Amino acid sequence: MLNDQLVSYSGVQPSGNLTIGNYLGAIKNFSLYSEKYKTFYCVVDEHAITVRQVPAELRRRTYETLALYIACGLDPEKNTLYVQSHVHEHAELAWILNCFTMFGELSRMTQFKDKSSKHSDNINAGLFTYPALMAADILLYQTDVVPVGIDQKQHVELCRDIAERFNQIHPDTFTVPDPIINKSGMKIMSLADPTKKMSKSDENTNAVVYILDDKDTIIRKFKRAVTDSDTCVSFAEGKDGINNLMTIYSCFTGKTMEEIEKEFEGHGYGDFKLAVGEACAAALAPVQQKYKEILADKSYLEAQMKKGAEEASYYARRTLGKVQKKLGFVKL
Ligand code: TYM
Repeated sequence: MLNDQLVSYSGVQPSGNLTIGNYLGAIKNFSLYSEKYKTFYCVVDEHAITVRQVPAELRRRTYETLALYIACGLDPEKNTLYVQSHVHEHAELAWILNCFTMFGELSRMTQFKDKSSKHSDNINAGLFTYPALMAADILLYQTDVVPVGIDQKQHVELCRDIAERFNQIHPDTFTVPDPIINKSGMKIMSLADPTKKMSKSDENTNAVVYILDDKDTIIRKFKRAVTDSDTCVSFAEGKDGINNLMTIYSCFTGKTMEEIEKEFEGHGYGDFKLAVGEACAAALAPVQQKYKEILADKSYLEAQMKKGAEEASYYARRTLGKVQKKLGFVKL
């Protein structure tokens, strides 16, 4: 809580083109909190460098991610939108929280295990201590809820453990946050391998639908989506591909699984895939249109970055100051 107001906080890495997984699992839900909560949504560029980035691309994607936040309905007047590296308190609190995070806890993180096997030539310490920086992001703003996809649940739970450990030694320091996971879009799967999460870093671009893909590309990708040898559109165990397409269709249209099954009774997979593609393209069209307009105005985006960083810094400074005092650091 900040000034008696509940706080919602989340972040997205500018480490690739954003996917409909990022949209349905996270960004689309961020605006649900804009009215009743104090909201902070961050472009986490410091997290992105745990994997090597091309500097010019990281810079470009930082602008693009902020533009997408706004295009997806986050009004900068109602939400604090900012870039992580513009608020130095994140890195400072992350160091402190590193000293309250156990080696064993970090070793159990599935994202660390996945990423270290994918990037075996660069298993750096930042990749390992990544959750302490994420905890710093969340705890700096006395966050109550963290809307994320299911893959980030483990990190938010570790953040809770870190906050509780710190509070036990230094009472009343941090609000202990809850992860909020939207049931329907919490894990959108790859179109090429529906047992795997859809990921912006997937090398097979046909496996992934990007928020900015044009209509023809979206329809082509859904047409090629891996399904099964059955022909009936129904949600059932073992039908990972169709289950995933039904989930995506449901998220974009608001229809339940039963309604979808009824709608496609007597139709084959081909008709269904086309409908999923069309629903997805139709829902993304206004986002894409708004995105183009916003991205074209770099000075507007920079003004928003600056405003967001100033707002965030105010609260971040307050929490960091409190933590430093509790730890016994000398204040000059
Ligand atoms: P990132 O950048 O990998 O993903 C951003 C958000 O998108 C969700 N997501 C998905 N949801 C459903 N299906 C998918 N296929 C899918 N892929 C991604 C993620 O769960 C996430 O919510 N560590 C975080 C960024 C972060 C953060 C934070 C989040 C840094 N600090 C503080 C919350 C609070 C990450 O790598 O997200």
